[in-house]
Amino acid sequence: MTSNQNTPLLLIPGPTPVPDQVLKAINTQPLPHRSAEFSAILNDAIDNLKWLAETQNDCFIFTGSGTLAMEASIVNFINPGDSVLALNIGVFSERLAQIAQGITDNVITLKAESGCAIELDQVELALSQNKNIKAVLITHNETSTAVMQNLPALAKICQKHNALTIVDAITSFAASPVLITEWGLDVVITGSQKALMLPPGLSIIFVSKRAWEYVGKNKNPKFYLDLNKYKKSMLNKTTPFTPNVSLIAGLNVALKLIAENGKEATYDRHLKLRKLVRSLSQKYDFELLVEDESIASPSVTAFKAADRITVSDLRSNLKNNHNIIIADGQNDLKGKIFRVGHMGYMFEADILRLDKALGQILA
Ligand SMILES: Cc1ncc(COP(=O)(O)O)c(C=O)c1O
Repeated sequence: MTSNQNTPLLLIPGPTPVPDQVLKAINTQPLPHRSAEFSAILNDAIDNLKWLAETQNDCFIFTGSGTLAMEASIVNFINPGDSVLALNIGVFSERLAQIAQGITDNVITLKAESGCAIELDQVELALSQNKNIKAVLITHNETSTAVMQNLPALAKICQKHNALTIVDAITSFAASPVLITEWGLDVVITGSQKALMLPPGLSIIFVSKRAWEYVGKNKNPKFYLDLNKYKKSMLNKTTPFTPNVSLIAGLNVALKLIAENGKEATYDRHLKLRKLVRSLSQKYDFELLVEDESIASPSVTAFKAADRITVSDLRSNLKNNHNIIIADGQNDLKGKIFRVGHMGYMFEADILRLDKALGQILA
């Protein structure tokens, strides 16, 4: 977005600003979902998502937020008693592990310190020592700590040990490459209100051939989240339940904007924004939570609170006097860090607006 002082600037890790073209596509009378017109839109959306993820794996769209897709990514693939390895690097990876713990007692957790990724050697060791691990739960971009993990390297280790990769790419997808086929990812989820530049309400799941074998053996009771229903319906280019027809129409416009701009240029813009946001740490003397740039998220940056202003005062000053919204830390990090989202429809001018506001507040 090119900033306008009258519009609240959402520098949070979702919901994110929505382009006017997308808003226009959403803001129309809904199409009947059992119609040829809507089937064509749905088909395009699936094709466009596969294009972005560079895969021919199955792809389904749920009506519900990212957490619904998180639950679907577990309940269809993990059986009671299965061993699962969870890589816990913050709030959202912990949530994925919690969902798995609701199904199986055998969740082994590797936990990183705040602002760190899990070491690859630790994953290798855990999988070597526990030969029966069926799946590894990976949060690609951990929004609560602004850490991005080395997904292709993690996936390689999982493949070596024949463990399914279940990947939360909710805040990396469309901000950074998520190359499902090239990296050999099995189950990948994302959500609408992040770098896909839509309002909240849709979540997406990609399922590999290998992952379908797990679905075939799955015994959990499920109805709305049963992937078999989605697969069967897609044969007729439809969904098992009433989908959010408006957001799916908007999704096509958002993906068209990404295509027009270019995938690589979009990823590059996120890296440039990351650099610009991280440079504010030196300028205003705020420590970065993630010092190592090689694991720094391209879509959100976390700064440690400094003595001279509380996170709460900084956030309210930005909101009340500058119409800029930034995020607090979550759980244990509440009040200790603040987070600046820079994902989706976000440009240098937006970060410069934040820079100017910080300059005035901290003068
Ligand atoms: C990495 C990650 N996973 C999962 C979620 C949960 O998504 P939702 O809030 O859409 O349910 C979020 C939300 O911020 C997230 O950032």
